[in-house]
Amino acid sequence: MITKIPFSPPFINEDVEQEVLSALHSGWITTGPKVRQLEEAFNLKYGFKESIGVNSWTSGAILVLRWLGIKEGDEVIIPAYTYSATALAVLHAGGTPVMVDVEDDFNISVEKIEKAITSKTKAIIGVDIGGFPADYDGQWDILSKKSVQDLFVAESEVQQKLGRCLLIADSAHSFGSDFGSKLADIVVFSLHAVKNLTSAEGGIISLNLPESFDVRTTYTLFRRLTLNGQSKDALDKSRSGSWRYDIVEFGMKCNLPDVNAAIALGQLKSWDSIQSRRISIFQYYSNYFKKFDWAILPPETKGGSNTSGHLFMLRIAGIKEELRDEIISEISKTEVTVNVHFIPMPMLTLFKNLGYDIQNYPKAYSLYENEISLPIYPSLTDEKLHIICTEVSKAIENAKTSL
Ligand SMILES: Cc1ncc(COP(=O)(O)O)c(C=O)c1O
Repeated sequence: MITKIPFSPPFINEDVEQEVLSALHSGWITTGPKVRQLEEAFNLKYGFKESIGVNSWTSGAILVLRWLGIKEGDEVIIPAYTYSATALAVLHAGGTPVMVDVEDDFNISVEKIEKAITSKTKAIIGVDIGGFPADYDGQWDILSKKSVQDLFVAESEVQQKLGRCLLIADSAHSFGSDFGSKLADIVVFSLHAVKNLTSAEGGIISLNLPESFDVRTTYTLFRRLTLNGQSKDALDKSRSGSWRYDIVEFGMKCNLPDVNAAIALGQLKSWDSIQSRRISIFQYYSNYFKKFDWAILPPETKGGSNTSGHLFMLRIAGIKEELRDEIISEISKTEVTVNVHFIPMPMLTLFKNLGYDIQNYPKAYSLYENEISLPIYPSLTDEKLHIICTEVSKAIENAKTSL
């Protein structure tokens, strides 16, 4: 039996074990001091005004859209090329996802966003595919246009305070990226098991809202909304004589437990070396594959933006979906594991049944049909990288000669 090179194992070392053990032995394992420490680490890294731990990107995004006051008929613009959670969050919040096509860098097309804005648009969600930041400067430019602002209809208190569409970043892949542009109003990260920084399951909502939103009040509100809208969290309530509570809002139950936050805190202790190894693997692949005329390399850097190196999304020029699938099945006979990111949402049953049609997203399909994602994580040795490069290029060259 061949021993497989895994695709994206979590980074677990002694620091991670120590942090988790310290949470387990602290007498408090759900949301408490470790979550706060993690939130502060996010604030420090990107200069966010505040951050709130949640149990996934998905629930974090639903919460943000509910806070915004999304209701039936409201539209949220998203790219067609992303993991389905981006659209599912909009549906869960009661809104309509308006999918638009993407650009060669896999990210949402700013031009297409502008065309899709209507008087029903309440938010835009840019997605940093693979960890390469979407063009937020371009999105801000659109939001600052008078013609776009004139279309906006405020229908909730938050929308009135904002006076325009909310700009949200789906930064599920981009902890570690340099954004190189003005940050979105709200950035939501994922700490899912396969992500660069993980808490097994988890997410972070980071606030970068305009001055009209008081930071402390908004942080406290979001924290409460993650805890069923309860006036006191469980830690406060557990203190002697402090049992009385109220439910003051219609919240969700999506708080991040301390025992999960501890995993990410342990990883952060080695963050610089984790991140630099990811980038050196990304560059190793780029250097290796650039010699092949069929290789289309993923974006690494542009202006002040740099990828987090979450994914290495290699594309093979001139091949169709069937041949890409055959190449993957050849590679899977070796020790190498590869993947595809992503099947555009209009190709998935749920979205097809809702009326989305891949014919309307030709760029998304053209990126998907020849994409293969290669493993990228800090414990990959140069020896394994050599095997991956050799097996992947061999399978592609063989397939190409059979054309
Ligand atoms: C682009 C994107 N957005 C959102 C998510 C959802 O993240 P989570 O699993 O933390 O809900 C993912 C997860 O893979 C993703 O890839």
